[in-house]
Amino acid sequence: MTEASNTVRFLHDEDYGAPFDTRTLDHQSMVFMGGRLTESLNDGWRFVIDPFDTGLRQHWYRDEAVPAAERGMPWDFQPDHGAPVELPACWNLQEPELRHYEGTVWYTRWFDYAPSVDGERVVLRIGAANYDTKVFLNGRFLGNHLGGSTPIFVELTDGLAARNRLQLCVNNTRTLDRVPMRHFDWFNYGGVHRDVALLRLPPVFIRDLFVRLAPDDAGVIEVDVTLSDRSAEILVFEIPELAVSATIALRGGAGTARIPAQPDLWSPDSPKLYDVVARCGADEVRDRIGFRQVTVDGTQVLLNGEPVFLCGICVHEDDEALGRVRTEEDARRMLATAKELGCNFLRLTHYPHHEMVAQLADEAGILLWEELPVYWAVAFDNPATLADAENQLLELIKRDRNRASVVVWSIGNENADTDARLAFKTKLAETARAHDPTRLISAACLINKGNYRLEDRLAAVIDIVAINEYYGWYEPDMDGLAQTLTAYDLDKPLFISEVGAGALTGWDGSETELFSEAYQAAVYRGQIELLRGCAALCGLSPWLLYDFRTERRQNAFQQGWNRKGLIGADKATRKAAFAVLQGFYRERGGFSGA
Ligand code: GCU
Repeated sequence: MTEASNTVRFLHDEDYGAPFDTRTLDHQSMVFMGGRLTESLNDGWRFVIDPFDTGLRQHWYRDEAVPAAERGMPWDFQPDHGAPVELPACWNLQEPELRHYEGTVWYTRWFDYAPSVDGERVVLRIGAANYDTKVFLNGRFLGNHLGGSTPIFVELTDGLAARNRLQLCVNNTRTLDRVPMRHFDWFNYGGVHRDVALLRLPPVFIRDLFVRLAPDDAGVIEVDVTLSDRSAEILVFEIPELAVSATIALRGGAGTARIPAQPDLWSPDSPKLYDVVARCGADEVRDRIGFRQVTVDGTQVLLNGEPVFLCGICVHEDDEALGRVRTEEDARRMLATAKELGCNFLRLTHYPHHEMVAQLADEAGILLWEELPVYWAVAFDNPATLADAENQLLELIKRDRNRASVVVWSIGNENADTDARLAFKTKLAETARAHDPTRLISAACLINKGNYRLEDRLAAVIDIVAINEYYGWYEPDMDGLAQTLTAYDLDKPLFISEVGAGALTGWDGSETELFSEAYQAAVYRGQIELLRGCAALCGLSPWLLYDFRTERRQNAFQQGWNRKGLIGADKATRKAAFAVLQGFYRERGGFSGA
């Protein structure tokens, strides 16, 4: 069929997006970051919305920033015209008109470049942007990345000039094939919500370094390293404090080693970290690593061979003023508040949080559950969706698998138990174990509401059987909890990954009035009474530390917020239930609240 003679491509072509959906910016593009210097590109951006994707249809990214007087043809967009914005930022909080904007936005900035050494390679790192991020340099499309919470790496080397224009085309539209899909209980922030920076690298550099205590021998440190290409021959690996200095032979750009060593083991009570150095040619990376083993034995979780009860709490990455943007101050406050609550464990829901949380948790001695946003309904029968989920999982694992604090990779939350979902998540579990045999796999499962039993087939796949149960809130009958706990008969640890109730801070309704602080505190008391006696229970992470934004909750008590926090949206005002949980954790020997 020939094109009609009056076809105007950018008006009539609805396949305009295909050339920009290469998905080449993925876990294989990653660069190991430990100890590297970076050059911030957070400032000086111009920002414009593009609800109809006209920029992709009309190739705005090719536009030269030519003064109007010198133009011979009409134009609709000029990169230097947008509103000034400083990254990281969620556009929803930039101005009232953008509060609920879902769609495409263009970020444009310029930077000068001059190589510092011959053969230098330059990589752009974006900490995270939600959801589809397309990168353009000097009018050329370099690839796109899917996923709203994992880092994006793209090499710029061959396209650089003395003066460069960098453009990010970011789209946060919820769709049927994304991960998460289009229905979830948190705010759909859009934008580049973590730092943007340039890396200058030697011609051959260390792309990945995984260092850990051998899962089968606490007297051996295992090292896996991957280089940017196949030419390198040896890598020097050192842990000065352990008198470890090894050369690792590289073949085909990769190498592995098992090194005898007797490190002091990392734990919440003794979060010992060692300085680690790896050098290859002109490249050198560093990291601070804690060595520990986490395993399961029957219904117990063992840390360094000793049973540990996980006194946890869930937390979203959300801030009243900053949205998904997390500052170090915010992360430190969260960890300190969790310790005050008596926690030795945090469930970071429902997507990968900022990498600094795991780095700070390593220092603070708090165990972490990190999670992939395979949440509620997902297109489990769509191979492209599985590829997207697997890539996000591998990006998370490669980003954080040197973090001692991370003990659980969670492959999702509250999905219906169907054949397609079981196949999808079994594949994710296999992928996680293949790339990291040193951590436990879990996922929040749902109880069969008909008989109060856990019958989710995923329980056979995961190491820790986690269940979200809201007896006392969504299930008024607290007796159902007793039946669920009594019926549990798997020889695996049982973890209550969510339990809780909503309360509007300061509302002093009675213990029988929903959304009063007294009601929330009574639910916690009732839950604790029953959970206290469950021998198979390895821990719990109630829902949750802070109130958080969600567009799907608009009643008089919620008004766009989920109010199940133990602390209000100000991240300071504690509700009555905070002390109830704190008392239980002190009884269970969690943190003394230092
Ligand atoms: C679910 C879900 C959470 C949600 C919570 C709630 O268990 O996992 O994401 O926010 O319930 O209803 O508040």
